[in-house]
Amino acid sequence: MGRIIIFTGKGGVGKTSTAAAHAVKAAGEGKKTLIVSTDMAHNLSDLFMKELKEEPVEILGNLDGLEIDSNYEMERYYGTISKAFKNMLTFENRADSEIFDDIVVFPGIEELFSLLKIKELYDSGIYDLIIVDCAPTGETLSLLKFPELLSWYMEKLFPIGKVALKVLRPISRVAFKIEMPDDRAMNDIEKLYVKLGTLQTLLKDRDTCSIRLVTIPEKMVVEETKRNYMYLNLYNFNVDGLYINRIIPEDVDNRFFDQWKQIQSNYLEEIEAVFANIPVYRIKWYEEDINGVKGLERVAADSLDDRNLFRVLKTTVNETFNKTDRGYRLDVYVPLAEKGAFDLFESGTDIIIKIGNFKRNIPIPNSVRKYQMASARLDAGTLSIYFE
Ligand SMILES: Nc1ncnc2c1ncn2[C@@H]1O[C@H](COP(=O)(O)OP(=O)(O)OP(=O)(O)O)[C@@H](O)[C@H]1O
Ligand SMILES: [Mg+2]
Repeated sequence: MGRIIIFTGKGGVGKTSTAAAHAVKAAGEGKKTLIVSTDMAHNLSDLFMKELKEEPVEILGNLDGLEIDSNYEMERYYGTISKAFKNMLTFENRADSEIFDDIVVFPGIEELFSLLKIKELYDSGIYDLIIVDCAPTGETLSLLKFPELLSWYMEKLFPIGKVALKVLRPISRVAFKIEMPDDRAMNDIEKLYVKLGTLQTLLKDRDTCSIRLVTIPEKMVVEETKRNYMYLNLYNFNVDGLYINRIIPEDVDNRFFDQWKQIQSNYLEEIEAVFANIPVYRIKWYEEDINGVKGLERVAADSLDDRNLFRVLKTTVNETFNKTDRGYRLDVYVPLAEKGAFDLFESGTDIIIKIGNFKRNIPIPNSVRKYQMASARLDAGTLSIYFE
């Protein structure tokens, strides 16, 4: 069975370099590997000094590379859908239609097709390992939560058969200022809906898909890494590794760096403490930028000497409904979240957990629906919500 490892982190911290070092190492070990970039500002071609395209190109033995062009993917497969969605998304925001309130996330829809492409390549079974080099944090988060979010909207918007849709179409235009897609698009949309479901399953499958964070030992980056870790868990992804890049080597003897070394050493300590439950790898700051296969092999040899590197390094259990004396308890793992930072509410058949700007909808199973949300408690990174 193939594996997918997704690298994410703040801009410029070394995601592409770290991802590529993994790819080169895996290929060297005889794994049939693909490195994929979903960042529209592609860097893989530069790094490998080889022009990559929107379909896999061989970089070296066992290693192919691909720079996904999400517009190309979208046009190729889903022209009708994108048109339908664009029409749909022009309606006005209405205070009384709560399900539409954050539909503004939709303009990035092209990104979704990058993920569908990755799934297609995974399904092809050609590769033992697919390494994904992502765009900076914020974009990756919205990218990863997209399949779930979109499925959710689709359920709310299209729970209806085609006949009903025909009847609804003229009304909806007036009521929601929304253009319902035509029948042909609807078929595509139903197909897309099914694909989104399988994509979500794949991305959240702990045996297949790992998310790895790249950071550097500096205040702002560390803070963002912690938030990113929490949100990725909130959305139920398996984060199983962290890389601290650009560590000033001990033997650097230059007064300018003395204070920097001290600063880094404080953050290294903090990171190791905060992320004590997942493996942490350290990558030093090299005297030149990381370039070509040679440079990447050097990083792999210095910092990635772990024979389990491509395995699942840690499996978090998330989102479980447990029976209690009075009803049910939903446990959600949200490490590093602070007490009082949550908003919780029930909406229809979902429970909604809101932290900062992020909102996660978790469907309430049938058996739990007859109970009411009674209380919630945060303990050791697990949010327990009681239904009584
Ligand atoms: N440990 C390191 N030592 C020296 N140079 C490094 C190191 N890590 C990264 N670099 C260099 O820093 C630059 C940025 O690294 P990289 O492209 O891997 O970051 P990124 O996180 O992918 O950036 P972006 O967010 O723009 O995609 C590159 O030129 C790379 O060679
Ligand atoms: Mg990059």
